[in-house]
Amino acid sequence: MKTFLLRAIAFIALLHLSDGWRLFKNGRRYGGNLGDPDKYRTEFLANQDVEDFWFTQKLDHFDPTNNKTWQQRYNVNRQFFKHNGPVFLMIGGEGEMRPKWIQKGAWIVYAQKFGALCFQLEHRFYGKSHPTNDMSTENLRFLSSEQALADLAYFVTRMNEQYNLTVNNRWIAFGGSYPGSLAAWVREKYGHLIHGSISTSGPLLAKIDFFEYFEVVRDSLATYKGCDCVEAVQSGTKQIDVLLRHMIGQRTINEKFKLCDPVEKSIENPLDISNLFEGLASNFAGVVQYNKDKRDGVALSIDDVCGAMCNQTIGAPVTRLAEVNRMVLESSNQKCFDYKYDKMIDDMKNISWGSSGAEGGRQWMYQTCTEFGFYQTSDKPTLLFGDKFPADFFVKQCSDIFGENFNQNSLSNAIDRTNIIYGALKPSTTNVLYVHGSIDPWHALGLTKTDKNQPQPTIYIQGTAHCANMYEPSDDDFPQLKIAREEIVRFLENLLKK
Ligand SMILES: *[C@@H]1O[C@H](CO)[C@@H](O)[C@H](O)[C@H]1NC(C)=O
Ligand SMILES: *[C@@H]1O[C@H](CO)[C@@H](O)[C@H](O)[C@H]1NC(C)=O
Ligand SMILES: *[C@@H]1O[C@H](CO)[C@@H](O)[C@H](O)[C@H]1NC(C)=O
Ligand SMILES: *[C@@H]1O[C@H](CO)[C@@H](O)[C@H](O)[C@H]1NC(C)=O
Repeated sequence: MKTFLLRAIAFIALLHLSDGWRLFKNGRRYGGNLGDPDKYRTEFLANQDVEDFWFTQKLDHFDPTNNKTWQQRYNVNRQFFKHNGPVFLMIGGEGEMRPKWIQKGAWIVYAQKFGALCFQLEHRFYGKSHPTNDMSTENLRFLSSEQALADLAYFVTRMNEQYNLTVNNRWIAFGGSYPGSLAAWVREKYGHLIHGSISTSGPLLAKIDFFEYFEVVRDSLATYKGCDCVEAVQSGTKQIDVLLRHMIGQRTINEKFKLCDPVEKSIENPLDISNLFEGLASNFAGVVQYNKDKRDGVALSIDDVCGAMCNQTIGAPVTRLAEVNRMVLESSNQKCFDYKYDKMIDDMKNISWGSSGAEGGRQWMYQTCTEFGFYQTSDKPTLLFGDKFPADFFVKQCSDIFGENFNQNSLSNAIDRTNIIYGALKPSTTNVLYVHGSIDPWHALGLTKTDKNQPQPTIYIQGTAHCANMYEPSDDDFPQLKIAREEIVRFLENLLKK
């Protein structure tokens, strides 16, 4: 019954998504980048309900005259905790906290091994952790990585009191994607509270024009052996460009790509056209970023989309691109392909916690506009998907959604500031292990090498996707992923000996 309910909720979420929202946008998956962990290990808590607890958190850590508080959601797992054992903290990120993680995933396997007490804390402004009564731009000024890190510091301090923890109970932070960055930064900023971290797939360099993203997408597609998948995608994209130039071609595009609104009316609107191309590129990005990870549910892989791109029986390259688009729409339960810029902006402008954007789309957009950039543009040599979605296209979205104060200038300041306060690719962290996968486009903004200039330990896993090492170990993991898991355990062993 419970499973059925969860499925039903997932289904509703997807139906919701079909109006205006895409499954994958700006390098972020609907609902957040970390999926649900797959496969229950029956010896664990398995079918028990996860209880939500609420922590009274300060609204503004940087203004002592502001005494407002709000309720932050967290989960606890005491099942494996041994006296003097460590405390593991899973950091929540750019989507609703997924309760299953308190019972499952690689970190729970480590918790069992090390006798750890486990917590996971939802990130402010995501999921059910609402610091303010809506998401107005005015209220979102309390949404930042710095506030989130201070949330973690307060949480750790109060849990130490509540659970009678001592210096022998060392806190280790875990996080994947943006929380991977937070895991590194919380050790850097609050080293007296956090003993060490495993930072998975975390971008460390803030950047407006993240053109490298699609370079990795290209390289990842190029690993497909069946045919030149990259070339097929390029030809298909060029054919779309040509078809868009005349009325018959435009109608062909409407039909082939199942557009929600006919493109004839949009042809004079470069923002719609940018959004169309960006959406088609995201079809591939969303597949590459999660290629064969172990999240719960079925997902398309590079083999699936390149299999279609290489299949000449389907038709010309543009028709094969349309087939990939159909596969992606089907996998996310969407009836048509939505590319209207104004519609997207209107959805993103909704400040209500009940709106579809409240799953995190609006909040994450705010963080990209005020802290990180990370815009996956078509600006560089790849030309995999043409050149239709440059950095300006994303900067304009900041202004259109949050107001004219959010512009090129403020974004440059924001990026500069983020890199200065955290140290970008030269962080001063100790006891932090950085883990990335070579297929995952986000590795391009993270630490992947250990050398003289960069003494921090890293693991760069050939062939794995975003956050792959965080999911439950399984027999069919790549050998190199199995080795990485062993290295992570050794790192934790050494950390807990220190
Ligand atoms: C919060 O601050 C206001 C204004 O300074 C004050 O009146 C109120 O008593 C404070 N509340 C608490 C719980 O400290
Ligand atoms: C912590 O210690 C206090 C006082 O000794 C006790 O009442 C409380 O139950 C303890 N809490 C836990 C979680 O063990
Ligand atoms: C190629 O596409 C055709 C038509 O959709 C399909 O019947 C066939 O199974 C595909 N071939 C491969 C190798 O996937
Ligand atoms: C925002 O979303 C809510 C919930 O879906 C909806 O009721 C409301 O009409 C939307 N507001 C605007 C301004 O579109």
